[in-house]
Amino acid sequence: ARKIIIDTDPGQDDAVAILLALASPDEIEVLGLTAVAGNVPLALTEKNARITCELAGRPDIKVFAGCDKPLGRVLVTAEHVHGQTGLNGPVLPDPEMPLQAQHGVDFIIDTLRAEPAGTVTLCPLGPLTNIATAFNKAPDIIEKVQEIVLMGGAYFEVGNITPAAEFNIYVDPQAAEIVFHSGVPLVVMPLDVTHKILVTKARSTPLRDLGTKVGIAVAEMTDFFERFDAEKYGAEGAPLHDPCVTAYLIKPELFSGRYINVEIETQSELTMGMTVADWWRVSDRAPNAMFMGDVDADGFFTLLTERLARL
Ligand code: BDR
Ligand code: CA
Repeated sequence: ARKIIIDTDPGQDDAVAILLALASPDEIEVLGLTAVAGNVPLALTEKNARITCELAGRPDIKVFAGCDKPLGRVLVTAEHVHGQTGLNGPVLPDPEMPLQAQHGVDFIIDTLRAEPAGTVTLCPLGPLTNIATAFNKAPDIIEKVQEIVLMGGAYFEVGNITPAAEFNIYVDPQAAEIVFHSGVPLVVMPLDVTHKILVTKARSTPLRDLGTKVGIAVAEMTDFFERFDAEKYGAEGAPLHDPCVTAYLIKPELFSGRYINVEIETQSELTMGMTVADWWRVSDRAPNAMFMGDVDADGFFTLLTERLARL
């Protein structure tokens, strides 16, 4: 199994990504979860991460709190999407499992130093603050990372928080720039992919029909998401962004894209956080990311339903 650290700001879709990973121990070994401020403030994202582990029946997973604000900007949150708690929809008990005392950034650093080089994959599902802070603090770990598989950015589908930018990159563009310039192999799941992972009724019904705590909670999470996006996506259902990251680790053949150069706009207020993706390879800048463009959405939902049934 591939060893991963999930860096996350739950978020209903983050929670589903975590559940999918925990349901897939043959392919994925979760070394720990690091929470970051994003969809909601840190005090809620770390709590939601623990709620999600308990929902999966895994109170043994280590959850760490990381950075509570972006490197150089004021935190922008997304309660308008995720609700006041970040995990609105299902009614889930407060977590009993502890939050680890260590800072999330130090956990990332220590883990990468302790494990053999090239054996740990980082999976960021929120703003890239924790990862960039770890790289700044301990540059020796950068070359030890196997790969970063992240959800963020957009090319054709630009703009879900501003007309030019995707939320995770917009919240901390400086951090994103550090990660995209780090030299670590990157796999990026942009809105171009995640906007194809729409939770239609036909796709959420089988989850609810699992009849399990997890199946019902996930259906309630996506129902809540749906109420926000119905206007935008009509009867087609809301996009389930972050689980693309963990689905990729299980079944990479579901996704296709291009290895291209991606730069982050950090200066212009108008296009702050834009991922300038050289899809048509018109610049001479060196490629730095496998930028996904397409996904087998039905294959994804078959995988998700089959895996969540195991929890
Ligand atoms: C991303 O932003 C958050 O609201 C979601 O959890 C996802 O990580 C989508 O733009
Ligand atoms: Ca997220």
